[in-house]
Parts: sequence; C-alpha cells; structure tokens
Amino acid sequence: MSIVIVAGGAGYIGSHTIRELQVGGFEPVVLDNLVYGHREIVEDVLGVPLIIGQVGDKQLLAKLLSGEHPSTRDKEIKGIMHFAAYAYVGESIINPAKYYKNNLVETIMLLEALLEDSNKKNSIPLPIVFSSSCATYGIPLETEIPIIEATRQNPINPYGRSKLMIEKILIDYHKAYNIPVSILRYFNAAGAHIQGDIGEDHNPETHLIPLVLEALFNKDGCLKVNGIDYPTFDGTCIRDYIHVSDLAKAHVSALNKIVNDKSLSIYNLGNGKGYSIMEVIDAAKKITGKEMKILKSKRRQGDPPVLISSPEKAKNELLWKPEFKDIESIIKTAWDWYLLKKR
Ligand SMILES: NC(=O)c1ccc[n+]([C@@H]2O[C@H](COP(=O)([O-])OP(=O)(O)OC[C@H]3O[C@@H](n4cnc5c(N)ncnc54)[C@H](O)[C@@H]3O)[C@@H](O)[C@H]2O)c1
Repeated sequence: MSIVIVAGGAGYIGSHTIRELQVGGFEPVVLDNLVYGHREIVEDVLGVPLIIGQVGDKQLLAKLLSGEHPSTRDKEIKGIMHFAAYAYVGESIINPAKYYKNNLVETIMLLEALLEDSNKKNSIPLPIVFSSSCATYGIPLETEIPIIEATRQNPINPYGRSKLMIEKILIDYHKAYNIPVSILRYFNAAGAHIQGDIGEDHNPETHLIPLVLEALFNKDGCLKVNGIDYPTFDGTCIRDYIHVSDLAKAHVSALNKIVNDKSLSIYNLGNGKGYSIMEVIDAAKKITGKEMKILKSKRRQGDPPVLISSPEKAKNELLWKPEFKDIESIIKTAWDWYLLKKR
C-alpha cells in the first residue's frame, strides 16, 4: 500500500479524510503538532501512525520523505495532504503574526522539504493537496454568487490572506518545479462520519452547527446570532454547508488525479446551495426535537452576507458528487455523533 502523509490529520477534516484514504487503499501517516488535534482519534479510532511535530520541520520531513523514519521505511509515498493550519478568523485579526508564521512560513518550509527531496531523488516533487478556503474570496458581489474558481479573490482577514498567499506560492512552484498541486477551497465543512465515531470537535468551537447542537442539548441553552440585518431574506448570513465525508472523498479523488496527470488544479468544494443561520437553527430544532433561546446580537466584523459555491468544476473533473445534499441530513450526522460523545 502507498503512504499518504496527512499533515493536520488529527483535526476535524483531516481525520475524516484519513478514513476515506483507508477506504481508497492508501496507508495514511499523520503529522500533527496536536495544538488542536486529537491523539486518540488518530491512534485508537483510526489506527494510524501519529508523528507529533510541526508541518514545517524540515529535518523530520527529510526523514519521512527519504524513508529513514520508521513510519515510511521501505514504503512508497504517494503524496501529501496539507490540512495543518490555524483557522480562527477573529484571532487572525488580533494576532496576524501567529497566522502568517504557522500557516504561511510552515508551508514554505514543507515545500522546501519536498523540493530538496525531489532534488535528491532526481524526480519531480511529491504531489500536494492543499486545504484552502472560501475565505480567500472575501466579500463577493451579489452578481458573483454562486462563486466559481475564477471569481476575484480579495480576502478580508489575515487567515484568508494566509491561504491566498499559499495558493499563489503553490501556483508559482507548480510552474517552476512541476510540483503536482490540488488546491481545494472548502465552503463550510459540517457533519460527522456516519459511524458516529469521529466528528467536529474544535476547542474553542466557533462553527455554527456544533454551537447550535450544544445550545439545544443544554437545558436553558442559548445561541448568539451575530447580525440579523444582513441583506438576505431573513436578515442572517447565508452559507454553503458541505458534509465532511463528502469533502474527504473529494481529497482522495484530487490526489489520484494529480498523482496521475501531475497537474495544477483548483476546486471549490461546496453543495452549491445556501442556508441562512435561522434555517440551520430550524433544521436542528426539527432533528433534535429540542428548543433553545436565541440572543440577537450585532454583526461580527467581516462576515460576508452570502457565500455559496459553484461546485460544478469539481463535479465534472473529479467525478465527485456530494452525497449529503441538504442541511437536515448533514445535521443528523452531527447530532448522532454528538449524542454518542455525550454518553
Ligand atoms: N472547518 C472548515 O469549515 C474549514 C473551511 C475552510 C478551510 N478549512 C481549512 O481546512 C483545514 C482543516 O480544518 P479543520 O477544521 O480540520 O481544523 P482543525 O483545527 O480541526 O485541524 C487542523 C489540525 O492541524 C494541526 N496543526 C495546526 N498547525 C500545525 C502545524 N504547524 N504543524 C502540525 N500540525 C498543525 C492542529 O493540531 C489540528 O489537528 C485547515 O487548513 C483550515 O484552514 C477548514
């Protein structure tokens, strides 16, 4: 079996992708510093080797890539999936240095290691699949919805800018060094694996669905809705939710594509459908049969009113089709996982 190094694989999307890599016949090896990841998910639930370290640790990477490390000895490495990043938009505005150092500088070091490895082996660098974000689009115009890959990118916070800078670097490196690259711009990842054993477990949690479920689960639970005066049909922000296992499957297809054709490709990964915050809350109430209080609050700085993807390019070129098409089916998986976790 061929190895895929999954940087940031102890996190939410990485851990679901590990499962799909296993289904696809790959042998994932996780590299994660565990600042936010979950050791037990990698080692106990997924049964995958975990190397605790920085994604930009060139010495460690050199050992992994050359097969000197026990996890990769005598094995073929097919590619790298790079999920490792900090992703708290608000924090990135207050402390941009943390984001440029961790997201950008660490990625440049990872790329250095890939280039040095390719020089030693006298081959093209290993393929890399990169986790980018709809945050790179900033605040699109109404006429730019649904967002296609060619839509103007103008991020409005350091987190989004760090992702866009990496995209540009990857494009330059592809042109100069032939590194096969797939840039995946996720919209809102949501839900949990249908087996209920892995799910969304950020700490602190800022994503809507886990916060809604937490508020519904707790007696006297309350959810703050940031902004009820957006130019949308009910005044709350509209987002495109994509099930995490659908995202994960797209990664495996994207990796297979660039392993074979050595190309550079960029895809939006979303459902192509938007739900307002109030619609998500209503769907969650229906699924859980529970109620909660809503605290209507002021807008947060820099929240675009509407973000909806056009996922057509990924559907056509990766032959990828999201299986969880509506918000109810996505929330149901998140709730099933949440209840198992609370037991
Ligand atoms: N969750 C979403 O909706 C969403 C949307 C768009 C893009 N993304 C991107 O997808 C990726 C994964 O997101 P997630 O929600 O799974 O986040 P997560 O925080 O759950 O996972 C990220 C993992 O990376 C690890 N990590 C961070 N910096 C590292 C470093 N320097 N070296 C080694 N490990 C490091 C963390 O410990 C964590 O396990 C991130 O790059 C994020 O920016 C996520």
